[in-house]
Amino acid sequence: MKIVESGIRAVNQGENIRVVTPVNIYECTLGDDVFVGPFVEIQKGCVIGNRSKIQSHTFICENVTLGDDCFIGHGVTFANDLFKTGSPDSCAENWINIVLGNAVTVGSGATILTTEICSGAVIGAGSVVTKPVLVKGIYAGNPAKLLRLL
Ligand SMILES: CC(C)(COP(=O)(O)OP(=O)(O)OC[C@H]1O[C@@H](n2cnc3c(N)ncnc32)[C@H](O)[C@@H]1OP(=O)(O)O)[C@@H](O)C(=O)NCCC(=O)NCCS
Repeated sequence: MKIVESGIRAVNQGENIRVVTPVNIYECTLGDDVFVGPFVEIQKGCVIGNRSKIQSHTFICENVTLGDDCFIGHGVTFANDLFKTGSPDSCAENWINIVLGNAVTVGSGATILTTEICSGAVIGAGSVVTKPVLVKGIYAGNPAKLLRLL
């Protein structure tokens, strides 16, 4: 059995970051004043903007960019391989990049399967976001729909 320890490796770090272990965070960038709760994974190529908070048990896949002042609730999943060919795609070039603007709030247990969520948008708990969110508002459900504009 080969055991690979989780941990924090090759992270570009801003100032005053707070991380509650255990976590698995590697080859990514954490801005100033970022908070990361326990049991979070942040994969390579991610950028977490200044003052953004990531609550426990969240999974942030490769190539996710969060703006400043985002709040990512507990147990949120970002997915970049959408299984478009009918199975997991080992070719990373086929995966989507996901970009959240500034001050995006994502409720606990949401799943993000889309490329973009605009600044100031709110995603309800347990929502499955399958289309880009381009207008500031509150979105919820599976698939997530606009509840109201903000
Ligand atoms: C979506 C949310 C922000 C509320 O938005 P809102 O615009 O105030 O919505 P309302 O409470 O007025 O509900 C409007 C409708 O959406 C539904 N709704 C609310 N939240 C929902 C959700 N997460 N998923 C699906 N539907 C939801 C309501 O049942 C209601 O339906 P109805 O019109 O058929 O009665 C809130 O319910 C939510 O999910 N917050 C996330 C909280 C969270 O995860 N916090 C983490 C703390 S660590």
